[in-house]
Amino acid sequence: MSLSLHTTILLILIQAHLGMSFTVIIPDSAQLEGPQPGSSMAKNGAKTDPQEQEAVYDIMRATGNSWATDIPDVCRGRWHGIECMPDRDNVYHVISLSFGALSDDTAFPTCDPTRSSISPSITKLPHLRTLFFYRCFSYNPQPIPSFLGRLGSDLQTLVLRENGHIGPIPYELGNLTRLKVLDLHKNNLNGSIPVSLGRISGLKSLVLSGNQLSGSIPNLTFPALSVLDLNQNHLSGSMPNTLLSCNSLLKIDLSHNRLSGPLPDINGLKELILVDLSYNSFTGPFSSSLKNLNFLQALILKDNPSVSATIPNNAFESLNNLIILELSNMNLQGQIPESLGRLPKLRVLHLDRNHLNGSIPSSFSKLNSLSELRLNNNRLFGSIPFSREIFWRMRRKLRLNDNLGLCYDAKSGLGDDIDTLFDAGIGHCDSQKSASTVPLQHISTVDEDIIGSSTKSAASLRKLSDLTQLIQLSAIFLFTFCLF
Ligand SMILES: *[C@@H]1O[C@H](CO)[C@@H](O)[C@H](O)[C@H]1NC(C)=O
Ligand SMILES: *[C@@H]1O[C@H](CO)[C@@H](O)[C@H](O)[C@H]1NC(C)=O
Ligand SMILES: *[C@@H]1O[C@H](CO)[C@@H](O)[C@H](O)[C@H]1NC(C)=O
Ligand SMILES: *[C@@H]1O[C@H](CO)[C@@H](O)[C@H](O)[C@H]1NC(C)=O
Repeated sequence: MSLSLHTTILLILIQAHLGMSFTVIIPDSAQLEGPQPGSSMAKNGAKTDPQEQEAVYDIMRATGNSWATDIPDVCRGRWHGIECMPDRDNVYHVISLSFGALSDDTAFPTCDPTRSSISPSITKLPHLRTLFFYRCFSYNPQPIPSFLGRLGSDLQTLVLRENGHIGPIPYELGNLTRLKVLDLHKNNLNGSIPVSLGRISGLKSLVLSGNQLSGSIPNLTFPALSVLDLNQNHLSGSMPNTLLSCNSLLKIDLSHNRLSGPLPDINGLKELILVDLSYNSFTGPFSSSLKNLNFLQALILKDNPSVSATIPNNAFESLNNLIILELSNMNLQGQIPESLGRLPKLRVLHLDRNHLNGSIPSSFSKLNSLSELRLNNNRLFGSIPFSREIFWRMRRKLRLNDNLGLCYDAKSGLGDDIDTLFDAGIGHCDSQKSASTVPLQHISTVDEDIIGSSTKSAASLRKLSDLTQLIQLSAIFLFTFCLF
């Protein structure tokens, strides 16, 4: 029962928001403390705690849901978005409140976005375990009230997502020491991440992405943290070493910030499934080994132009589950290591916009799962090692343009696929020789720019993000299993 409830909610979230990942888990009340009011609730005289009932009326009024004040017993006239539980004396207490139109199927009460607010009466619900507001205050921008820090010690899940909240993350949220999930995704929060959050020692998911948080990431340690998502903020400084002792991490996303300092050595975080440090200013070199990361499926480090390193020969060698490796625009030099061709599950490999030289390793012909390869804008030369099958499979997701002289061998049997070759940005090895150092690939760049570059790359971006999405979701599923 408990699992199916979570799964249902997750599925709803997935369907409703294919463009984003959710870390919302509505705890299942039935699991923890005896029966829930259900179809059999009329069999006794249970009543909602009168103080809590008044508090719920206040909260409903403040969100533009005055209709609820006509309900004589809020726990009995249950609507989607309220959950209650009886105590020993059969008095019902509110344990969960949710607002916002997640999808057509989840009919949580919606908020009137022009005048909603969070009523301070919320602190009169001492048994609350879950509080969830989604798209509630968008046109009435307001800070996250500091009184949320006084919510009861049972609170495990606090989600304030896409609500248009402004100002800082209140220091007082650090008083919610029993929290497992704190999700403040996509508001307009600014200021720095409060150090007080470090007091929430059992935190499993910290999602502060899509805000304007600045300053450095504080020295936080969360032994149980599975998900750390701070992407799309203005965070600076280096990644604190304390995060490297969060041994339960499945997902780290620090992308699209202003982080600097050396690329963190994540080899000790053995559970990792997804690492995204892209669009920052991290510096090289790479950690010499990632051999402990047996579960890693996506490593996205692209657009860190200050890394300026060579790819170590065997760094990625034992990542047997790696599906996505993105190392674009990192100012990488030297050759592509042969060992990259030995990643059995690799589907997406982006090494474009670097200074890589030499030829494409022949081991790449064994990348049987590869469906997207970008090597464009490097200094590669020589013949391409792909079989007709791989070539055909990748088609337009193969980008080889703007290199020093990549070409196809007449013997490869690729010659009759001339359109695809042309789109991928390469010519025949023989004609290449006679043209000496003149790069042929500009022709195809022009062709791409003029004809269909935007649609093409938009489509491939979409595909890619679908895949990343899939992995994120799988991380979240795992995370759900951990939670309950
Ligand atoms: C929160 O915790 C701080 C100590 O960090 C304490 O001084 C403060 O009174 C607490 N606030 C509330 C609202 O409980
Ligand atoms: C946060 O944003 C508000 C406006 O919403 C501004 O007044 C305040 O100065 C900002 N604070 C920081 C630390 O950037
Ligand atoms: C974190 O700790 C390091 C050294 O342990 C210290 O240099 C740094 O200033 C601390 N950062 C913050 C934000 O407290
Ligand atoms: C490749 O680049 C490295 C470093 O930039 C350089 O030392 C090396 O000579 C280059 N090799 C080739 C074959 O061009």
